[in-house]
Amino acid sequence: MSFNIAIDGPAGAGKSTIARAAAQELGFLYVDTGAMYRAIGLGLLRKGTDLASDGALEAALADIEVGLGYEDGAQQVYLNGENVSSLIRTEQVGNMASSAAARPQVRAKLTELQRGIARRENVLMDGRDIGTVILPEAQLKIYLTASVETRAMRRYQELTAKGETYSLEQIAEDIRDRDYRDMHREVAPLCQAEDAVLVDSSDMTIREVTDRIICLAKERMEG
Ligand code: DC
Repeated sequence: MSFNIAIDGPAGAGKSTIARAAAQELGFLYVDTGAMYRAIGLGLLRKGTDLASDGALEAALADIEVGLGYEDGAQQVYLNGENVSSLIRTEQVGNMASSAAARPQVRAKLTELQRGIARRENVLMDGRDIGTVILPEAQLKIYLTASVETRAMRRYQELTAKGETYSLEQIAEDIRDRDYRDMHREVAPLCQAEDAVLVDSSDMTIREVTDRIICLAKERMEG
């Protein structure tokens, strides 16, 4: 049987950086489910889909195929066969992904894909509903969070390094909005699973959080 680790938490808590490092050190496959929602978000933006219309959303989704692959151990996400990994990291795509992720049709499209990978492989999967909905039987669940201020500052530094200009206040506002949407949607809202270990990364370094997760994983694998 495969060993599954679920990491959930809000945007900007450092999930992907930490999950990628921990997966590599444990020899697990890292699955970033946010990238799948982002690929769908990009597909919907390209089509100019009106999310308010069920008919338009369903027609657009029928034309959208999301796939995952790995190059040198790094996850690649495909939208209808095109590698879109470098196109999905914008605020615009992130906001569209968050809105689209509230729709049950969008979530249903990704559920089986995510469960199938976890059945076949030892995975460390990160997202919003991994421990609660996708892999309720995961052997280890982590809920990774940090304060809005910490997350906004991290995102600000990331965007500034890429040459994109946003104000810190605007980013904090976006984070609050996205948290609200992710936590209050009807289907699979972001929340801590009862049996998840809470890790607040506000005052921890990436190395400290990664080590904590590896340590918890080793304990569970041995136990
Ligand atoms: O983690 P991220 O910022 O790349 O995710 C983009 C959006 O996708 C996020 O706002 C919420 C949504 N998402 C989700 O609803 N469920 C997941 N398992 C992963 C992401």
